[in-house]
Amino acid sequence: MILIISDVHGRFGVINEQLEYAAKVMGENIEAVVVLGDLGIFESNLKKFFERERQKFIKPLYFIEGNHEDFSRFDVLVKKYSENLTHWGKSSVQKLAGVNFLCLGGARYMDLSNTPMNSEIKTSDICNCLIHSPAEAQVIITHDCPEGIGVPNTPGLEFYGPPGFAGSGEILKHFKPRLWLFGHHHKWFDKIIDCTAFHGLPESWNGFGLLGPDLSFRPVVNLIERKYEPFWKRWFGGL
Ligand SMILES: [Fe+2]
Repeated sequence: MILIISDVHGRFGVINEQLEYAAKVMGENIEAVVVLGDLGIFESNLKKFFERERQKFIKPLYFIEGNHEDFSRFDVLVKKYSENLTHWGKSSVQKLAGVNFLCLGGARYMDLSNTPMNSEIKTSDICNCLIHSPAEAQVIITHDCPEGIGVPNTPGLEFYGPPGFAGSGEILKHFKPRLWLFGHHHKWFDKIIDCTAFHGLPESWNGFGLLGPDLSFRPVVNLIERKYEPFWKRWFGGL
């Protein structure tokens, strides 16, 4: 069983709390955790958790990038902390616990602060996804949602237009995946269209999903109390 979680925004301890809930309260055998972006790869977050607090993730962690990571030092930080986390790059296919994933981190362009350089999903990323044969992946994981599936806009963000990234329709048509999982929009979303079940996840402290080797997906609501922190600290760590 894989635990799927999204939008951690540097609160790494939440991942372990959700893993413990799945194992101890629900009695699930969790092999690994996959984060659907906005893990919060900023050096201050990483130093605090791994070095100052001497913590570790209690299961192997794999992640795609979101739009709120330190993209100016992303590769350096991922390499530095590679014992603790593994990045799955844009347009790559990855196999874990018997599941084949097509990975596409990042987000469609919003503005310079919300979509820093290297976080934006580009046409070349879509093309690189389409190079893979449909048989290579049954599950698509993205940070942003596909367009046109009915994810409602977040109040206050209407300016950016309807949610979803361009080119997602081509990926859908090519792969016809069993599952498409995403985060970014900070809300639960479930819809089946033709042969694909779409699931959107909220912030990590509101719950997670459980993905079985038979590609069954179960959303789990589990609220974790948060200590108050100003939003800029949550999003940008020690900036
Ligand atoms: Fe995001």
